[in-house]
Amino acid sequence: MTSTDTAPASKGLAVEVHGIVKHYGKTKALDGVDLQVRQGTVLGVLGPNGAGKTTLVRVLSTLIKPDAGSATVAGYDVLRQPKQLRRAIGLTGQYASVDELLSGYENLYLIGRLLDLPRKQAKARANELLERFSLTEAAGRPARTYSGGMRRRLDLAASMIGRPRVLYLDEPTTGLDPRTRNEVWQEVQGMVADGATVLLTTQYMEEAEQLADELTVFDRGRVIAAGGIAELKAKVGGQTLRVRPGRADQLPEMVRCLTEAGIRGAVADPAEELLSVPVTGEEQLTAVVGVLGTRGFAIAAIDTRLPSLDEVFLAITGKRSTPAPADRADQAVTEAQPEKEYAV
Ligand SMILES: Nc1ncnc2c1ncn2[C@@H]1O[C@H](COP(=O)(O)OP(=O)(O)O)[C@@H](O)[C@H]1O
Ligand SMILES: [Mg+2]
Repeated sequence: MTSTDTAPASKGLAVEVHGIVKHYGKTKALDGVDLQVRQGTVLGVLGPNGAGKTTLVRVLSTLIKPDAGSATVAGYDVLRQPKQLRRAIGLTGQYASVDELLSGYENLYLIGRLLDLPRKQAKARANELLERFSLTEAAGRPARTYSGGMRRRLDLAASMIGRPRVLYLDEPTTGLDPRTRNEVWQEVQGMVADGATVLLTTQYMEEAEQLADELTVFDRGRVIAAGGIAELKAKVGGQTLRVRPGRADQLPEMVRCLTEAGIRGAVADPAEELLSVPVTGEEQLTAVVGVLGTRGFAIAAIDTRLPSLDEVFLAITGKRSTPAPADRADQAVTEAQPEKEYAV
């Protein structure tokens, strides 16, 4: 081993990307992207179709070369140390890369052998992962007989064989039904608990909310927002103050008093017995509570609500986020790529 073989993980960052550019003809798939993923955390890369998410994953997997910029993963440079880098990562794409004709066990064993594991170890690792991803019973059956969720689990298991330090999950649940999506989420959470660093791309706000520590929002090859989930929410929109009155019949009166006091946007919701007031800062919060208090209204409960991630996404991209319905078969055709595609 040379000294460059050991990963000099810098500053606790598992992934560092600086100014990455990738063009496909006139399309700027990546237009100067910067991002970082801290070790042991999940970075959610959010963005609509065509935003550049998969292109980034390909660059960071050394499958394609960027036109400009630099990136290191687990301390290895994508351009100068591709071989070492590939050994440190695991990749699960939007399309499963399992071999249809081989059984679940054979798929995993083969990958272990490709990664230079001795026979005995490849066998042990395959069985261990089949167990972990609840595939032991189906281990002997060809993967083509698996359901969509089972294939995705097998695919996740395959990406874990080499005990990757950094895992890329490219839209891991697109096209899956809610129950299977939940299963995948649980597996991902388990991997993170075991110390993996994850770069997760998704179009689903709910998925980001469930799994990600931090978010980077992409649009047209550029990072248009980045930060913690709460931070992004706070940045984008004000909060909503919600007041539950002691007496629901006083709601209209409360709205009138607030309006008179120059506080705008108060809305009464008689069905929910709630008064909502948009607030941008602490002062406004105090003012609302102050007005209600001085006028002698009884308050039963009070809280503030940050905007939803959907609202954040709409505010920064101007686009509605993709809902996560039971079936998104339409997304299976958006990319022309060599990977195998499968029906879910
Ligand atoms: N192999 C390719 N050849 C030509 N254009 C591509 C190729 N891969 C991606 N693109 C284009 O680059 C842009 C970003 O694509 P992609 O990274 O797949 O986005 P996402 O994964 O966010 O949906 C899109 O406009 C897409 O059409
Ligand atoms: Mg993609």
